[in-house]
This record gives sequence, structure tokens and C-alpha cells, in this order.
Amino acid sequence: MRHFLSITEIDSLINLVSDARALKKSPFASKDLGRNKTLGLLFFNNSLRTRLSTQKAALNLGMDVMVMSFGKEGWALEYQDGTIMDQGTSEHIREAAQVVSQYCDVIAIRAFAGLKDKEKDEAELVLNGFATYASVPILNMESSLGHPLQALADAITLAEHSKNTKPKVVLSWAPHPKALPHAVANSFVEMMRQQQAEFIITHPKGYELNPAITEGVQIEYDQNKALKDADFVYVKNWSSYLEYGQVLQQDPDWMITQEKLGKAKFMHCLPVRRNVVVEDAVLDGHQSLVVEQANNRTYSAQIVLKKILEEIK
Ligand code: CP
Repeated sequence: MRHFLSITEIDSLINLVSDARALKKSPFASKDLGRNKTLGLLFFNNSLRTRLSTQKAALNLGMDVMVMSFGKEGWALEYQDGTIMDQGTSEHIREAAQVVSQYCDVIAIRAFAGLKDKEKDEAELVLNGFATYASVPILNMESSLGHPLQALADAITLAEHSKNTKPKVVLSWAPHPKALPHAVANSFVEMMRQQQAEFIITHPKGYELNPAITEGVQIEYDQNKALKDADFVYVKNWSSYLEYGQVLQQDPDWMITQEKLGKAKFMHCLPVRRNVVVEDAVLDGHQSLVVEQANNRTYSAQIVLKKILEEIK
């Protein structure tokens, strides 16, 4: 494993989940692996879980960690080649990536979609810019298109709670007042495509995800029908992909309630807006896995960092 940019790059999801679960039982077993190695965490957007769990994962492996809120503290980066830089940008990604590579043995990056320009978002300028010009491995901590560490944590959580070999898993859109990116939903779909499961996506018309990602996956526009007899309900809001970045509707009927959940386990990547996305009773009930998912973020990051360190040592 050199870079870790997408959940689709994993050779065997089953093996990686199994390795992560073993590592969870002995998190300090590889404390010497990261000695004298530094992880740089560059944030172009806010975070709670990703920042702390990735830092903890690195510390468990004996790494040193440097964190920079690049979006607030760094120079505004230029990504285009040949640009006359006489406007707002101060430093080119070519220099920035090479410079950070001298300070860090692995660079982790969070850079969300702007949701204004689909072509620009799909070019993944920040993540791909670092992957192109850095001389060290790059770890995706949520980019425009994907959140692979979240999807891997979700796969660990599913494995820990699955009672049968082919569970029914539903990804349900839920309302939200703001336009949110597609990254979490994209990576969850990509992860589920590698699972033995009955997998259904449900959302209102107009909220179809990128068809290249959902190709072959069942889409059901009737939420109640989709949720029937589900074992796991993974809830997430995303803005329209077709009418790029638009909030087409905020229909409160799509909020997840205890009644709709039935006997299923509830999953969400967090942060979540209570009584907009999901009602209190679900989050406060015993069927909610959200805190366990957040805990598994440490082990998803740690197993990926471990694989990277084993390659570069
Ligand atoms: N789920 C997740 O990535 O949380 P943060 O945005 O707080 O890092």
C-alpha cells in the first residue's frame, strides 16, 4: 500500500477488516513500527473524529504527529500549471507538497468538495495534487469524492454486529438544512459493493448519487419499502449530484424514527443533527452504533497506517 486514496484500492476488504479487528485487541503491539516516523495531518476543513482518531492511531503505532489547519493557517495554494500567480494564490502545490514531504513520512489530507463546480471537485485538486507531487504516501481523510477511512470503520462495525452471512443493509438519505458532499455515501456504496449483503439505497427522486458509483446497486424511492426487514440502516444526507450541490428538498418525512428503524441497527458517520436527520429516541437507544463507528475510526486509520509503515520501513 503506497497511497490510500479510495476504499476501492483495497485488495481484500475482508482481510483488512479482519486485520483491523485483530489490531483492535492489541492496539500497542506495533508500537516500534512508527518510531522516528512522522505523520502530518493537513486539514482544509473542520473535523472532530478524523483529527483525533487518526492522531490516536499514529500514536498507537509510535509515530510522531504534526497537525496543521491548512485551510486557516496555510498559504492559499495554486493547483493549475502555467498560471500567472498574480491573483489570490500564494504558493503552488508543486512546492508545497515537496516541502511537506521533507518534514513528514506520511501525509494525511482532508479537503472536501466545494459543491460549486462538479468538474473541479471531481478532479480532486488537493488530494491528487499532493499524491502527484509529494514523495511520501498520502492518506485520504475525506476528499471531494470519498471518505475511505470512514467506510473502512463502517465495514469493521458491520462485521462486529452482523448476525448472518448476508445481512440486509440500507443506505438512506435523510433531510438536512445545508448542502452536504457525497463523499461518505460514495465510499459507503463502494465498500458495500465489496460485501456479501443485500444492499439497497433509498432517497427521494433527484438525489441519485454518481451512477458510475451506484451501477448495479438497487435503488428504491419508497423509504418504508426499502427499510422493511433491514438489519442495518446507514443514514446520511447528501446534496443533489444531478443538480450539482443543490438542496432540492428537506422533507421531514425522510427523518429516521424508531418506528421506521424497527429492529435494525442504526449507523451514521457523525456529526449528526438530532431531530432533523434522526430522532433522539434512535440515537439514545440501544440499536445505535454511532459511537462504536467513531471508535472504529481509530482502528481503520491504524491498520492503514500500519500497512503503509510496513512498506516504507
Ligand atoms: N465522520 C467524520 O469524518 O467526522 P469528522 O468530520 O468529525 O472528522
